[in-house]
Order: sequence, then structure tokens, then C-alpha cells
Amino acid sequence: MKKIIAVDGPAGAGKSTVSKIVAARLGYTYIDTGAMYRAVALKCNEELGIRNEELTEELIVKVASDIDIRLDEAARVFLDGREVTKEIRTPEVSRGASDVAKVGFVRKKLTELQRAMAAQGSVIMDGRDIGTQVLPNADLKIFLTASVEERARRRFEELKSKGFAADFAQIQKEISLRDKQDSEREIAPLAKAEDAVLLDTTHLTIEQVVEEILRLAQA
Ligand code: DC
Repeated sequence: MKKIIAVDGPAGAGKSTVSKIVAARLGYTYIDTGAMYRAVALKCNEELGIRNEELTEELIVKVASDIDIRLDEAARVFLDGREVTKEIRTPEVSRGASDVAKVGFVRKKLTELQRAMAAQGSVIMDGRDIGTQVLPNADLKIFLTASVEERARRRFEELKSKGFAADFAQIQKEISLRDKQDSEREIAPLAKAEDAVLLDTTHLTIEQVVEEILRLAQA
């Protein structure tokens, strides 16, 4: 059985949905690294009270040097001791997360935290650079992808179901922008590890993707 599973891919490919189910079926811990970048972005927004466009690297480093981020067994997210699981899911925080993720200081700090969290084994961790940077020795690496249209549709449905106002065209634009920013940044860009298994989920159901990962985990 594969003890450490890394799942990477662009926004909306289904990483967290699928990883949570796989974790539950295997009795593994699920670690959502995107939530950690989101928590940094939320703290920047709250502390500085400025718009994303005005965030400079210097300000981001200042906020991130004194931050406490924790994830519990139920994948709840805590920022400086306060639960922020829901607050980090807004479109504004999504944009901010992609910005703070470009900063080397933030990446180094979160990468260390993520490695420490994975050290006990029996984990499935999802993000953008898990197979390439955070856990290059993972026992199984998955790269999940889907078309931009399909990913925008999923995000649209997700936001609607959570009661947020959603505009499909706007979401598609934002996802494309985040794809570009996450894939083109200098440090640890979104990339498929050479030894990762590529799974295109555009035409697959959640259950089909879960089954495939479980099969690979048991192989
Ligand atoms: O997976 P997500 O949408 O919650 O991630 C939010 C942002 O964080 C995303 O735009 C890219 C960044 N991220 C990253 O750079 N590295 C990771 N391992 C996880 C997320």
C-alpha cells in the first residue's frame, strides 16, 4: 500500500473532493495545502485592509513571518487559533492566495510545515507542487486535470451551493488567470512530476477518479 500520496493539478480539477474521499476510504489524513496559502492571503486582507492589487512582496513577508496555520483531522483550517474554514473560500481569497504563493518566503515556510505534517505517513496531500517540490519521494503521484470550461462549471456549482453569488464567465476568466499565474511563476510552479500519473477528469465522475486512485494506491 502506498503510504504517501501526492495529488497536484490546476484549480477546480477535483483534487480536494477526490483526495478527501480517498483519505476516508484508506483511513489516511487529508492535507489541503491550498488552504494554507489561502490562510496567508486571508491574513493579508484582514491585517492590511487593502486590495489584492496593492499587496507587495514586502507586506506579504511581514504578515507571513508571524502566522500560525493549522489543519485538523476534519480538514478544518485555523489561522492564529481561529477557525477560517469557510472564510478562505471566497473568490477574493482565491486571487490573493495565487499572489502570496509567488513569494519565496511563504513557499519555504509552508513547504516546511507540509513536510512536517506528512512525516508520520498515511497521508494524501494536494496542491500544485507536492510531487515536484514538497514530497518528491511520495509513493504515488497523481496529476489531476480537466478542461478550463469543466473546471469553471464545477467551481460555479460549488460557489452556488455554498450560497455565494457566481458568474460563470467571470469564474472562467479567473481560473484561466490563476492557471497562468500558478504555472508561470518562478518558484515551484504548477507542474506535473515526471513520475506522476496523469488523470484527465473532464469526462470522469468523482467515483471513477476515486476508484482509479485507490487502484493505483493498492497496486
Ligand atoms: O488549491 P487552491 O485553489 O485552494 O489553491 C489556492 C492557491 O494557492 C492557488 O492559486 C495556488 C496556490 N497553491 C500553491 O501555489 N501551491 C500549493 N501547493 C497549493 C496551492
